[in-house]
Amino acid sequence: MARWIIVSNRLPFSLDARTNKLKQSSGGLVTAINGIKTKNPIHWVGSIAANIKKDQIEQYQKSSPYSFSYPKISESLYDSYYNNFCNDVLWPMLHYEKEIIQYQSEYFDDYKKVNRLFADHIAKIAKKGDIIWVNDFHLFLLPKYLKEKRKDLKVGFFLHVPFPSSEVYRELPCRSEILESLLYADLIGFHDFAYLRHFSSSVYNILGYDASLLDIITPHKKVRLGVFPVSIDTQDFIKKSKTKSTLNKIKDFNFPKEMKTILGVDRLDYTKGIPLKLQAFKKFLEDNPKYQGKVQLIQIAVPSRTEVPEYIKLRHEVERLVSEINGKYSKINYTPVKYIFNSVSVAELMALYKSSDLLFVASKRDGMNLVCLEYIVTQDEKNPGVVLLSEFAGAAQTLSHALFINPMDIVGTSHKIKVGLEMNVHERLERHNVMKDYLKHYTASIWAESFINQLTSREKSDINKKINLSIETEQAKLKKKVKNKTLLFLDFDGTLAPIQNNPSAVKLDAKTKKLLQKMTQNPKCEIVLVTGRDRKFISQAMQGIPCYLACEHGASFFDYQKKKWRNLTASKRKPWVKDALEIMGLYQKRVPQSFVEKKQYALCWHYRRSPESFAKLQARHLYSDLIDGMKNYPVTVSSGKKIVEVKSLEANKGYFCEWFLERYAKDHVETFAIGDDKTDEDMFKVLNKRAHTIKVGSNTDSYADYYLEDQADVFGLLNKLFS
Ligand code: UDP
Ligand code: G6P
Repeated sequence: MARWIIVSNRLPFSLDARTNKLKQSSGGLVTAINGIKTKNPIHWVGSIAANIKKDQIEQYQKSSPYSFSYPKISESLYDSYYNNFCNDVLWPMLHYEKEIIQYQSEYFDDYKKVNRLFADHIAKIAKKGDIIWVNDFHLFLLPKYLKEKRKDLKVGFFLHVPFPSSEVYRELPCRSEILESLLYADLIGFHDFAYLRHFSSSVYNILGYDASLLDIITPHKKVRLGVFPVSIDTQDFIKKSKTKSTLNKIKDFNFPKEMKTILGVDRLDYTKGIPLKLQAFKKFLEDNPKYQGKVQLIQIAVPSRTEVPEYIKLRHEVERLVSEINGKYSKINYTPVKYIFNSVSVAELMALYKSSDLLFVASKRDGMNLVCLEYIVTQDEKNPGVVLLSEFAGAAQTLSHALFINPMDIVGTSHKIKVGLEMNVHERLERHNVMKDYLKHYTASIWAESFINQLTSREKSDINKKINLSIETEQAKLKKKVKNKTLLFLDFDGTLAPIQNNPSAVKLDAKTKKLLQKMTQNPKCEIVLVTGRDRKFISQAMQGIPCYLACEHGASFFDYQKKKWRNLTASKRKPWVKDALEIMGLYQKRVPQSFVEKKQYALCWHYRRSPESFAKLQARHLYSDLIDGMKNYPVTVSSGKKIVEVKSLEANKGYFCEWFLERYAKDHVETFAIGDDKTDEDMFKVLNKRAHTIKVGSNTDSYADYYLEDQADVFGLLNKLFS
């Protein structure tokens, strides 16, 4: 059973100054990972505070289902990495708080150093077959550093915080290095589709890679993307909410029966919107005098990142607001805001969840927010409280029946407080049951399992591990198989000839032409040129080489023995051409140096000479306009290397190969197909298991069995195999 190595900035415990013992740290990441129940052994890697001793960890480990280890990081380096870079640059950037970012390149250097120390440590302790699961923004660079040392390891990355719009992310000076390094992971997971979408468009806009909502194609690999909203160990929270100590705490609180309680539980972090919450509560008391003296707000503010100036400022602001409200509305036996700047025990937290009427989450931005999940599962089944939830928390996407607020809207929020407090039990139950039912089934374990399953599941392109034919020993192995009569399907552009800016100027070079002529003199070797080009161009380019020609993706075919051309498409031209030309024409005007090539069975918009990133973006728009505009016509729309094409449905290299094999290829024993572009994939798909299929230029995202690193390697391969 594979071991999971969970990696996070810190191990999940800190030293309790009062007892001098280790206690669980606060925060959603720790709660989620601690909530995972699995049979797989788990080893947790994270840093530790300088005041923790080795024997204390050993002691803690005894009562934990996990084993732990940590990289050695000096205190000053850790301070710069954690406080200066993670908390003063990445955290505000990821939460849309651009104005408070304090970027300095030396901080990024320290961030790199710590990520390297993590990589060194994991590379040493990881055994073959271990699965590495990196958590959160502190370790964005780790996937690259680790893969450089241990290519064999599967590495997944999960982001526990939001990923902002690419308009925000692109302002980060080290934006490219972070994305490039992260893209060494095999899977990148997010809480929410919006975060994934922002990430994907940042990669596309900044690095120019092909980025969809499912995956990203980089020059060295395909990275999968996925949405896995985090959750909690539901049963464990239900159990904890019913323990004796929880029930005793409820008695201790002894809140007056007629007093309504609103609860807030947050780390004291500016992303949590605590000042907004206090302002909305103040407005609520102001506008609803009948509730003065009858509603209290208990705000637990767990100390967090206390050395960072922004957090110190926030603490002062919150304390000022609390005393303002209390100064105005307190009575001898009534304090409207009970503010606790401390963490609370598990029993106290459960008791607070159970004794409050409304949970108030006012986050300005929040990756997920587990507090509201915990609140729901610990409620009284017959008389549950209400969740007032910011629409800017990731949880808003999964908790469909919460009462939503925009926390920036103080008036609207104060009104929703009233709605929440006055909600009748029937509606409360209806909302509660839907959400609790969801949380009963969707737990932290399911979250982790889905992530790891996707990380370890193999894709078609992984299963057919491709063989690199640019390596001579691999060529020699393949040559041994080529003894009998052989048929070769060869693509033209990008395969026999390099891609050039001016397509009409492309020619076969002399040595390739000579080699092809030599090959066709061998009675055991037959060549079929399969290309998107039209017959005029290709007849010229292949002059003097006796071989079959399939133009326009097989729509038009030349039998060199009979010296006859044939049309293989049923439909003559073509009701769709006018509409397609109209759409493509707009893009031809809009994108400098782009042009539309008219073929008999296809129209092709080229942008190889145009400004690259602008044209690439326009190509996407054109592609979707064509998909939309052509949906009632018998055509396919495809995008390839610097082209977008519409062609008759029958014009397809795969259909052509099938047709040709049935009629012409009865006594061939070996078949080869070599191509470089998306249209060649149709050919590879059809020829699966019936041919040696070779993709030129990349080993990812292809149905082919083999690959060549470069177009220039095609000559060497053909020469080795067939001359
Ligand atoms: N929490 C805690 N001690 C406290 C109060 C809260 O450990 O005194 C826990 C709480 O139960 C929850 C986590 O801290 O599991 C906060 O997670 P959340 O996702 O809401 O926010 P984060 O702190 O990760 O931003
Ligand atoms: C958020 C982050 C976690 C972090 C936690 C507590 O949940 O996503 O990575 O651990 O806050 O923050 P801290 O800086 O105390 O670890």
